[in-house]
Amino acid sequence: MSPLSRREFLSLAAGAMAAAASVPRVGATASPAGPAQSLNATARARGMRFGSAMSFAQLSDPRYCELMRTQCGIMVTENALKWPQTQSGPSTFTFGHGDALARFAAENGLLLRGHNLLWQKSRYLPDWVRHYDLGAQPAKTLEKLLYAHITTEIKHYPQIVSWDVVNEAISARTGALRETLFTRDLGPELIDFCYHCARAAAPHAQLVYNDYMNWQPYSRAHRDGVLRFLEGLRKRNVPVDALGIQSHIGANPRHPDPPLGRPQKMAWRGFLEAVTGLGYGLLITEFDVNDNGLPSEPALRDRLIAAYARDYLDITLSFRELKDVLTWGLVDKYSWLQHIAPRADGTPKRPLPFDSHYRATPLYFALAEALRTAPAR
Ligand code: XIL
Repeated sequence: MSPLSRREFLSLAAGAMAAAASVPRVGATASPAGPAQSLNATARARGMRFGSAMSFAQLSDPRYCELMRTQCGIMVTENALKWPQTQSGPSTFTFGHGDALARFAAENGLLLRGHNLLWQKSRYLPDWVRHYDLGAQPAKTLEKLLYAHITTEIKHYPQIVSWDVVNEAISARTGALRETLFTRDLGPELIDFCYHCARAAAPHAQLVYNDYMNWQPYSRAHRDGVLRFLEGLRKRNVPVDALGIQSHIGANPRHPDPPLGRPQKMAWRGFLEAVTGLGYGLLITEFDVNDNGLPSEPALRDRLIAAYARDYLDITLSFRELKDVLTWGLVDKYSWLQHIAPRADGTPKRPLPFDSHYRATPLYFALAEALRTAPAR
């Protein structure tokens, strides 16, 4: 990872100072979990909801459970409802982990999101699907597989209010539909098929298309591709209600220079205007900030992260169509980013609103302020 140039550092630091001026510090009134008003209460006051991903393992961490209870109004299952976790063979469904998370959500008054029914990247399909004997009528066989998977899973969780039906269908590099064994035989209509199955099984749930296009220049082909894709779905009357903006923001180890990139704010606003102009709702589904390449010193790093996040959230939350903000976890030590391109200095990343000692960080307050100052829905 290239170190910060003096100019980059100064510009980041200036942004951080401006943001810090408007962001309350972790002060005497803040409990270890943050200030009295939870993120969800702050979101509710503006007609939104705040929530987070949770994994099965985190159910055994009382402090994590406490943060879910006190800060969130909605939970998304991190891995428990993905295809490989829920169906180990054509007629073998295993919902144990998902059921445990769903129980926790119900007991604590959290709404539930389901993630995801089809991840359009071949490596995330179960092995048995990849090697399935498709027989003489491959298209029919594949439709049957998809139908069974989607329908069984959705019907098992009638309480789920919002589903990521298809995840990451568009190539970030080219903007075209990613190819899989499903597109080979079913063509692009495979996507339509999934949403029609989902709508039939869950007439009242929100059906979401979820992807990771973002505000960086390298993401332009991705944004354009997702927009074309959403236009096509609208034209064909496919029942998709909203775009899930994953929001894994910050450094991208594949595009390392400079650490936080060069956000294109106008282009991002334009993208969100175009998406909402097509009649789609919006939600932030997997927010976190990758701090690869940022200085080691935690306090400085935290300020840079918070300022960058605040900028992103202010633009994105200015759209009244956006009703839900979910982070991809609450506590730094559990973040998936710890396992992806570790920082050059070997220190743990600080991508989430609570540090590994469960203390609210400046990112927490950036989230709180962005929610508090967003236009009311
Ligand atoms: C990640 C999980 O956090 C990891 O535990 C897992 O090993 C891989 O998947 N986009 C998505 C999420 O839609 O499902 C991914 O979650 C993160 C990127």
